[in-house]
Parts: sequence; structure tokens; C-alpha cells
Amino acid sequence: MQIFKEKALLTAYLKTIWDKNCAIGFVPTMGALHQGHLSLIKNSLDENDYNVVSIFVNPTQFNNIQDLEKYPRDLDADLEKIRTVCPNCIVFAPTVNDIYEGNTNSKSFNYDGIENEMEGKHRPGHFDGVGTIVKKLFEIIKPTNAYFGEKDFQQLQIVKKLVVKNNLKVNIVGCPIFREANGLAMSSRNERLSKKDREEAALIYKILLTTQEKFASRSAKEVGDWVKKTLEKHESITLEYFEIADETTLKTCIKRSKNKEYRAFIAVFIDNIRLIDNISLN
Ligand code: PAF
Repeated sequence: MQIFKEKALLTAYLKTIWDKNCAIGFVPTMGALHQGHLSLIKNSLDENDYNVVSIFVNPTQFNNIQDLEKYPRDLDADLEKIRTVCPNCIVFAPTVNDIYEGNTNSKSFNYDGIENEMEGKHRPGHFDGVGTIVKKLFEIIKPTNAYFGEKDFQQLQIVKKLVVKNNLKVNIVGCPIFREANGLAMSSRNERLSKKDREEAALIYKILLTTQEKFASRSAKEVGDWVKKTLEKHESITLEYFEIADETTLKTCIKRSKNKEYRAFIAVFIDNIRLIDNISLN
């Protein structure tokens, strides 16, 4: 495994690969790796000649300073996990200064309104931070394919827009959500849940599965009301939002249209830990 902590050293190494015209797969992460990340790396391994994984806790995408400070960081443990699935991986784990060169600010992006829905409403500036870092990483690594999990479905749509609007030459691959045995979507934040809360959190996926069933015969509003009522009975879970939205524009479904694809999105707090999930309704 090749590990680089500076972009200049990484790009000097990658130059020999770019010249060969090989497929480079890229999995961007903020570390605290779990099975979900490892499944992205496995997808990358299957489809590319070389594979790059970045580990970088990006400060500009955190709208909450405590969340940034509490974000788990354990590079050695992450490297060990990558080694188990991809012993020949190229790992990029830069410092904030190497990436931002003293200007730790986001650029401002227009994603045709996708940025104003759901996560965008509740985490102001988040998607500008994501766009800033993802664009920088694509420009440094110049990957052929880049892999993003569908757990952050809105982020996946944002990155696809970023690529089209900026004419970036990379193919974006969305990968299915990886779940724990009880259905809870894998997330680095799950580590912060107590055993009891982790069990309670299984309700999120159960609700999404029932949403899928109910949406076959009920309106988006009826399903949304049912979700709110169901969660009101569970004191330990606080609903931040539940939305049934058009998969492409992420606009709320007011009146269902036959030729659109819909997805249900949910964000909750359990003991101050924010969890998100989503499910296709088609
Ligand atoms: O999904 C994440 O972990 C981050 O948002 C990403 C894409 C690595 C950018 O920092």
C-alpha cells in the first residue's frame, strides 16, 4: 500500500499512472471507515486498474464545530481496514493546510436548487464545502471513476451536478446502502450510539420499508403524517425531517406523477447524534 500525506508527492506518483492511460478508481472518505466504505473500495477494485482512497476530515463541510471536533480520527485503524480489502491501494491522507493552503473556505456552487432541499436546509453551507473538497480531490487525482454511497443520496446527486456543470472528466458511480444486521444504515456516527440507542435506531429502516409499502396506495402527505405520528411515540428519536421527493430534482412530491421516480428521505436525532437514511419508492 502506498500512503501519501502531501498532494505534491501523490501527483508525482500518479503521473506515471496517468501516462499509462489506465483506469483509476477513487473512493473519497473522511476516515472512521466501516463496511460501507469497504464495499465502495471493493466496487472500485472490480472496475479499475489502480485505486485511490482519500482520508480527509474536510472542515469546510461542517456547519457545527462540535461535530467537526468530535469526528472520529484514527488513521492507523483506517489503514488496517483498507489493507484487508485492497493491499495495493494508494491512500491519500493530507493535512488541512496541504489541501487548503491557508484559505480554509468553501467556494460557492450552484447545483440547480438541489442544494436548497433537505440536508441543504438543515446544514447551511454543507454542500458548498462538499463541492469544494470533491472538486479539489478530483483535480488532484484525476480519477476515471469515483464511488459514492447512496446513504448520502443528496450528496451523490450534488456531485453528479458538480461534474456536469464543471465539465469534469470523471464517471460518478452510486453504490447501494450497506446496512447493519438490524437494518441501520452504516455510518461513522453509529459508533457514537449506545447499545440501546443502536437497537432503537433500527426503527428508521423499518419506517422506510413501511413507507415503501404505504406509498403504493397512499399520497406522500398521508405517508408523511403516518411517519410523524409513529415517531412521536418514540421519545428517544426526534424527527428532523421526512420527505418524499423526486429522485432527480429532490423537490418534495406534492402531486405524484407517473413518469417520475421517488425516494423517501429521513433525518433523525438519537441522543444528539444525527442519522440520515433513504429508500427508493419505485
Ligand atoms: O461522504 C463523505 O464522507 C464526504 O462528504 C466526502 C465525499 C468524503 C467529502 O468530504
